[in-house]
Amino acid sequence: MIDLSTSYMGLKLKNPLVIASCGLTTALQGVQNCANAGAGAIILKSLFEEQINADVSALKRASSDFMHTEALEYLEGYGHACGPHEYLALIRDAKQEVDIPIIASVNCITAERWSDYAAQLAKAGADALEINVGFLPNTPGFTSAVVEERYESILKTVKSRVDIPVSLKIGPYFSSFSLMAQRLGKGPQAADALVLFNRFYRLDIDLDKLNIIAGNPYSTQDEIHTSLRWILLLSGKIDADLAATTGIHDGQDVAKQLLAGAAVTQLCSTIYQNGFLQIRTILDELKEWMDAQNFNSLDEFRGMLSQTRSSDPESYERLQYIKGLTGYE
Ligand SMILES: Cc1cc2nc3c(=O)[nH]c(=O)nc-3n(C[C@H](O)[C@H](O)[C@H](O)COP(=O)(O)O)c2cc1C
Repeated sequence: MIDLSTSYMGLKLKNPLVIASCGLTTALQGVQNCANAGAGAIILKSLFEEQINADVSALKRASSDFMHTEALEYLEGYGHACGPHEYLALIRDAKQEVDIPIIASVNCITAERWSDYAAQLAKAGADALEINVGFLPNTPGFTSAVVEERYESILKTVKSRVDIPVSLKIGPYFSSFSLMAQRLGKGPQAADALVLFNRFYRLDIDLDKLNIIAGNPYSTQDEIHTSLRWILLLSGKIDADLAATTGIHDGQDVAKQLLAGAAVTQLCSTIYQNGFLQIRTILDELKEWMDAQNFNSLDEFRGMLSQTRSSDPESYERLQYIKGLTGYE
């Protein structure tokens, strides 16, 4: 009998397949569809810090000096669908209707006013809170030290406001990611989990209309490698759990991330593309692979290929690099 159960940030999950924060989890019906298809846990669609800091009509009044009108219109539309009050109701409803962990999500760039709202998320019944730091330092005014401190400050402030576990969803764009992961994932102020990696929105250009458009919102399977590398390198070295995301599309991808050392995997593009039943298919594929490898539980192989478990950790990555190039000259 194959057991897929796992623990994530101290929460008990029946399997490591977590639905990533996305439009599929904006409303109760989507949450139920994910749960019915067998998901281990669900991250709700993110609320934006700006939505929490001011209700949408107040935002409108302040728009001239606060944000671009076009951006405001989008946020307003989003706000009608699910503002801060509706979000608390969604958490309560989801907790009542499904029996898997429900994780709230906030997309923020600072830790200032919104962090008091974090306590309300916990009170509404969220099992944990994921913070998506959507901060892209796109002017030279930000030194790397300032950027890094911002992440630490957001984490510290939110952790001081809630008792539920807090995960940090971040991108790989740091001068020294290894150091950053230690700073965010080790010690008494550590995140309960690091979610690696956020897939930042992509910009594209429409050559006919000569305007800026959104790039492809969905990942491809080939995008798994950045996350896979860092989970292999970090597993066993920090206190925080590691959640893998981006480019995980099938059961084999889930198996790879678990072998690297991930506690759980988060995905959504493949569900958008193949429907909710893809959740069941992925779980079946994972079980099939475990069966073929004679593994009965995730702990038997989790982190098996990580750097810490390697017989030669010193030359671990260099060796893979050289091996990878051989034969392509
Ligand atoms: C349509 C769409 C909406 C998303 N919205 C959010 C969001 O609100 N908050 C968030 O943290 N991530 C959001 N994401 C990113 C996903 O949570 C996930 O990290 C990313 O898509 C990579 O996983 P994937 O390769 O399975 O797509 C969104 C992704 C998609 C495709």
